[in-house]
Amino acid sequence: MSTIDPETIHDVEGVPVHSVHRHDVIIVGAGLAGMRAAVEASDEFDVAVLSKVFPTRSHSGGAQGGIAASLANEEEDHWEWHMFDTVKGSDYLGDQDAIEIMVKEAPVVVREFEHYGTPFSRTPEGRIAQRKFGGHTKDFGRGGPILRACYAADRTGHALLHNLYEVCIKKEVRFYPEFYALSLIIRDNVCRGLVAWDVINGGVHVFHAKAVMFGTGGYGKVFEITSNALANTGDGLSLVLRAGLPLEDMEFVQFHPTGLYLQGILVSEAARGEGGYIINDKGERFMERYAPDKMELAPRDLVSRSIQTEINEGRGIGGEAYVYCDLRHLGEDAIMKKLPQIHELAWKFLHVDCTKEPIPIQPTAHYSMGGIPTNKDAQVLADGKERPVEGFYAAGECACVSVHGGNRLGTNSLLEASLFGRRAGKSMVRFLRGTREFPELPADAAKLAIKEIERFLSADGGERVADIREDLQGKMTDECGIFRSAEKLEAMVKDLGELEKRFEKIKIDDRSNKFNSDLLEAIELGHMLEFSELIVAGALKREESRGAHSRTDFPKRDDEKWLKHTLAWKKGDEITFDYKPVIITRFQPKERTY
Ligand code: FUM
Repeated sequence: MSTIDPETIHDVEGVPVHSVHRHDVIIVGAGLAGMRAAVEASDEFDVAVLSKVFPTRSHSGGAQGGIAASLANEEEDHWEWHMFDTVKGSDYLGDQDAIEIMVKEAPVVVREFEHYGTPFSRTPEGRIAQRKFGGHTKDFGRGGPILRACYAADRTGHALLHNLYEVCIKKEVRFYPEFYALSLIIRDNVCRGLVAWDVINGGVHVFHAKAVMFGTGGYGKVFEITSNALANTGDGLSLVLRAGLPLEDMEFVQFHPTGLYLQGILVSEAARGEGGYIINDKGERFMERYAPDKMELAPRDLVSRSIQTEINEGRGIGGEAYVYCDLRHLGEDAIMKKLPQIHELAWKFLHVDCTKEPIPIQPTAHYSMGGIPTNKDAQVLADGKERPVEGFYAAGECACVSVHGGNRLGTNSLLEASLFGRRAGKSMVRFLRGTREFPELPADAAKLAIKEIERFLSADGGERVADIREDLQGKMTDECGIFRSAEKLEAMVKDLGELEKRFEKIKIDDRSNKFNSDLLEAIELGHMLEFSELIVAGALKREESRGAHSRTDFPKRDDEKWLKHTLAWKKGDEITFDYKPVIITRFQPKERTY
């Protein structure tokens, strides 16, 4: 292999390669998964974190209601109960060996945060306060909702994220804020680093590493209404696909039941955990019809479908596409103490004072259950099954380990991101202890990325990125949203083909290097179009309804044919599929009712 000299500054066909940086570990993404891994690895090794946004603006900060752990601070709880709820919530698609690890280690991870200094809300005795959340129950589902979500008011993700950033600074983790990853450098199944764009100054940078980790987050921005931040365009997933690796279970997309009407911004499930109701135009608490036992605290897939059904059948408020989340009976004191951010968001975005009026809400694209296949030590799997890519790790929303299966329970996301981020850090430390040398850096390491930048900086067609993106979001919502069918999905396959053709003819007005958002949005759109194909193709193939994947033409779960994980590759225009079994240890699949 001809190699690149790390000290040289290259200028390749007009696009400068400003620097080649070297670190033992390079992490992409400064959310909970990335920074928790950095904390773990930085005691022994030189760790750098790249982030598309400033680290404390990462989307983990948008998670509001809590982080799950069976601390039993306020009532009896056990990791086995948490495991049962997670398995059932996943509609039996979650891998039970990974779930067992997660629920057993959860109390350790939360107490570590407490020791780092996270300002959790407290019980009168001074313990971490816990609240109820959808799908979390007592006694293997036999009892009512349980107090399991550890919280910091309704800003839990924000509190954890800022705390981790402080710990990273203390441990001298090197940050590269506003660096946007463009491509992975993987040769002969060894990950050697990655290439990134310096958003602020412009220019391509090569990052040479012994270990690379992705904590690149989700992709809610492919939908019209989403709780996700602008930055959540699933970039890591497309980089993995372009490196010839598969993605797992991409058809499983979670819609959170309560997004602020037309804004999508999260109204935390904590609102219902604290006792809030959801009501339709007739003033009915309609969850009585769909989940008579657990009502508003049924899992998200079920509550979202119920809300959407009410809307579709004309019982939205005034016949419009929203229902109400009513908190008034909780009282002003409880709202301002436990749900202050909900109060602020409803006021600022809809001019609704939720102490006096109900909040208009609708389901909002929230979370991706699928992603980059990993094993329990966060190693990325080259074949999606067993064979790790040497030196490549992933955790958090971009990864699929798979602990959420077909549907994630609320508060298991902050848990999964920090816990598997921590495991990724430990795993990288073990790997690095036996790895003295940097792998060779191929001379053409930056070639793909430079080609992409050049293509966009000279793009002079007639199509606007924003128009194509808007069409993609609208069509994905209509044709691959909460309710799906072969007819809609086939239409979406066709639509994606047309959107891609339009994407070949885009125009970029800004040809400069510095903070070129025109350029970045084009790259993001390319990523979104690419992995959306896998969401749609996987959804079309999976002829059953399971968790968040709901087919009106196949309304039942089909364990005989579909109790398996989807693996999908994209080579050129072709998508290929393979499947792997679900790991079942303690809980055999049975009918899922709430
Ligand atoms: O509703 C919420 O607070 C979101 C939490 C989560 O997605 O885990």
